[in-house]
Amino acid sequence: MSNTNIGKQAAGGVAAGLVRDGMVVGIGTGSTVVYFIEALGRRVQTEGLKIRAIPTSEATVAHASRWGIPLVPLTPQTRPDLTIDGADEANPRLDLIKGGGGALLREKLVAAAAAEFVVIADSSKRVEHLGAFPLPLAVVPFAVPTVAAQLKDEFEVTPRLRLLADGEPYITDDGLYILDLPFGLIKRPAILDKRLKVITGVVETGIFIGLAKRLLLGHPDGRVENI
Ligand code: 5RP
Repeated sequence: MSNTNIGKQAAGGVAAGLVRDGMVVGIGTGSTVVYFIEALGRRVQTEGLKIRAIPTSEATVAHASRWGIPLVPLTPQTRPDLTIDGADEANPRLDLIKGGGGALLREKLVAAAAAEFVVIADSSKRVEHLGAFPLPLAVVPFAVPTVAAQLKDEFEVTPRLRLLADGEPYITDDGLYILDLPFGLIKRPAILDKRLKVITGVVETGIFIGLAKRLLLGHPDGRVENI
């Protein structure tokens, strides 16, 4: 197993230990979350842990179902006690860039609705400043050309339409396209988030501000730092 995957697995395992009987658990998306689902699924199967989970993507639906984890939709009455999700970058204030897996819209909904939101990541995801990872933006397909032009004019950034291996646009579970924005350095993430959100045609940004209260950072030696 690679060093990165050792960190991801370790963080996912510690996060699974935070889940208590009777909880509603929000489950994010991505390779780190897959390790969390495995560890949680083992607890469901061996300890008889009784939980309900709210998935943030069709990929997570598939993984969780494989482990027999009961799934429920997000409603005002059914909110997560705890949401566990990965991140592409986390700064010291636990502002995040997310959406590398394209699930940022549902991920933000499920993180924002949770009583507690805990991020799991390998140590490469910890950064001083956000922005080296291109910022994902979920955009209505019809609006992609005009949004892209506005981004170039106002933000001097050249957006890249996320494509699949066959050259077709990547489409999210909600029928949106993803523009990846290579800012390089994001000095004021909260302000940037607000400025991007008001562009007509932008549905959501991958900037997560003030949502994460805790980061479980997995290191290559299997140690998990609690930040
Ligand atoms: C998906 C996400 C993921 O949490 C993020 O991309 C991290 O993924 P991984 O755990 O595979 O590194 O935001 O939309």
